[in-house]
Amino acid sequence: MALPVSDSPVESRTFSASASNTAPRFPNIAFVNPSNIHIKNHVIISEFCWLHGGIKTIIGNFIHISYFSSIAGGGLCIFEDFVGLSAGVRVITGSELIRGEGLTNPTIPREHRAVSRSFVHLEKHVFLASDVVVHPGVTIREGAVVGSNSVVTKDLEPWTINIGIPAKPVGRRPSEKIKALEARLYEQSGVSPFDPHDYLHLKITQNLIPELQPR
Ligand SMILES: CC(C)(COP(=O)(O)OP(=O)(O)OC[C@H]1O[C@@H](n2cnc3c(N)ncnc32)[C@H](O)[C@@H]1OP(=O)(O)O)[C@@H](O)C(=O)NCCC(=O)NCCS
Repeated sequence: MALPVSDSPVESRTFSASASNTAPRFPNIAFVNPSNIHIKNHVIISEFCWLHGGIKTIIGNFIHISYFSSIAGGGLCIFEDFVGLSAGVRVITGSELIRGEGLTNPTIPREHRAVSRSFVHLEKHVFLASDVVVHPGVTIREGAVVGSNSVVTKDLEPWTINIGIPAKPVGRRPSEKIKALEARLYEQSGVSPFDPHDYLHLKITQNLIPELQPR
C-alpha cells in the first residue's frame, strides 16, 4: 500500500525550503543525521529510502529519489536540480578502508576502525536508472544518464549515456532541448536554480586511519 507521504505534489511541498529547509521525520523513510540534510523545492522521496546526512547532503530542486534508494557513507552528497534516482540506487559517499588500516564495520571502536570520507556530486539532469551504484569520489557531470544495474567508479562526462560495470559511455543526449525545457520550467515555477558553489570546497576525500584520528 502506498503511504500518503510521497509521490504526490502535495507531499513534495512538505520538503520545501520554506518549511524548515531540513529533513522532516517521515515513517518509512530514514533520515540519519537529519540536521545535515538540506532539501530544496519540489522534491519527492519515496518510501523505504535511507538517507544519511554525512558531512552534508544537499538535495536541489525538482528531484525524485525513488523507493529503496540510499545515500550512505557519511561523506558529502550534492544533487543539483532535476536529478532523478530510480528505484534501488545506492549513492556511497564514503567507505571502510580495506587494506589492513583498520577493522571494518561500525561495531568496532573508533580507534580500531579506518574509514574514508569522500563525496558524490550529481550535476543537473543526471538520471540514474534502477539499481545503479555510485562509488565515493565521483562527479557525474551535467545531463549524464546511467543505465540500470551499472556501477559508476569514475567521473562521467556531460550529456553521455553510460552503462556497465564499470559504467562506460555508449551514447549521447540532446543538451539544447533539455536546457530549453529547464529554462521554461524555472520561469513558470518561479523556482531559483540551486547553486552548488558554496559546497564545492567540501569535495575532498579524507582517509581517517586510527593513528591519525583524535582520541
Ligand atoms: C539508460 C537506458 C534508459 C538507455 O536506454 P537506451 O539508450 O534506449 O538503450 P537501449 O535500450 O536501446 O539499449 C542499447 C544497447 O545497450 C544494451 N543495454 C541497455 N541497457 C543496459 C544496461 N543497463 N546494462 C547493459 N546493457 C544495456 C541493450 O541490450 C542494447 O544492446 P544492443 O545494442 O547490443 O542490442 C537503459 O539502459 C536503462 O537503464 N533502462 C532502464 C531505465 C530505468 O531503470 N527506469 C526506471 C524507472 S524510470
